[in-house]
Amino acid sequence: MQPLTTQEEEARRAAQAAGADPAALCWVRSPLRVCLLGAHVDHQGGTVLGTAIDRCVLLAFTPTADPEVTLCSHDFPGVVRFPVADPPADISPAWGRYAAGAALALRRREALAHGIRGGLAGGFPVGGLSSSAAVGVAYLLALEHANGRRVSAEENIELDRVIENEYVGLNNGILDQSMILLSRAGCLTEMDCATGAYTHLAPGAGMPEFRLAVVHSGVRQALVSTGYNQRVAECREAARLLLIAAGRPVPAVPRLCDVPAEVFAAYPHALPPELARRARHFFGEQQRVAAGREAWRQGDLAALGRLIAASGESSITCYECGTPALIDLVQILNQVPGVYGARFSGAGFRGACFALVAPDAGDAIAAALRREFEPRHPELVGQWRLDLCAPAGGAAVTTAEDRQPAP
Ligand code: GLA
Repeated sequence: MQPLTTQEEEARRAAQAAGADPAALCWVRSPLRVCLLGAHVDHQGGTVLGTAIDRCVLLAFTPTADPEVTLCSHDFPGVVRFPVADPPADISPAWGRYAAGAALALRRREALAHGIRGGLAGGFPVGGLSSSAAVGVAYLLALEHANGRRVSAEENIELDRVIENEYVGLNNGILDQSMILLSRAGCLTEMDCATGAYTHLAPGAGMPEFRLAVVHSGVRQALVSTGYNQRVAECREAARLLLIAAGRPVPAVPRLCDVPAEVFAAYPHALPPELARRARHFFGEQQRVAAGREAWRQGDLAALGRLIAASGESSITCYECGTPALIDLVQILNQVPGVYGARFSGAGFRGACFALVAPDAGDAIAAALRREFEPRHPELVGQWRLDLCAPAGGAAVTTAEDRQPAP
């Protein structure tokens, strides 16, 4: 058997603490994701361009004969326990809510007879890379495996939506779990979040080598306690007002994807300035996704990078998200030689920034952070972290047998 990596060892120890037999462990490797273009448009039914990366959340587990779930984490204290057929509405310790939410979402489809004993190792600080969706997906895949269920990626996207929207209470879209479940190594995934239709985009011929740089600011905060849901409500209100101005029918939950771009252009005074900025971000971002797809297909990293930087700027000025630390990070990164373009990696309210970079840009980025970021944010000295990542494939389960060397 191959030796365990540090992260695998951390997950194995956590699983053992939860009572799992270390000799019989199954593994879920659930990747983190970056969104290159299409920031904050998924909850409005927009189109996004992103990929899973070669960093993941790891869940080591064994299925149980009984219906009990028992979990420990390398990163968080406490033991999570609940009956898989009756997950509690409120759970302590709170990190267990993604597991309880997964059981709740799956139980709506059919009864579950088996739980898991598992251990989780995050491998990366929380914030901006969608570790919560990676964790939700990991529990879904583990519980499905334990109960002998075959569930499509499309269904798992919907099940994870139930965890986040209905159990955790974050009104986010389906960007995160879609990239985590659908990505293909080396490709970008373009997805229409209104219909769920997606395409894998292979890189253009002759595209130079690149890396996806992830810079974690050191700022950690749960997204549900940020302005995220307020922005979603503002976008819905912008859609409602534009549809009314155009005399069009208004759905029960209006989204900006219900509004043709021509309507936004034709009714510039239908929205108060703040909501007009949210709508401008949505429509601008949709144009950037379309242009970014073409740049990627042509192997034009410079053009793609300019679009990423423009997306970052729009998130700051029109969508008005971003903490002071993250805004500084994006602006510093966008000046570093070898950086094609940088923007917030996730919602921008905490966590990480992401940049499309040349393979050897790491040293220049680290030097710029020490020179320009640290003096402005002394509280984050020693807290930030830089990783150079690559596009990777989607989440998968492996069993103990898969890890044995071939005879
Ligand atoms: C978070 C949410 C996603 C998406 C991004 C911003 O990661 O979970 O649904 O809205 O922010 O693009």
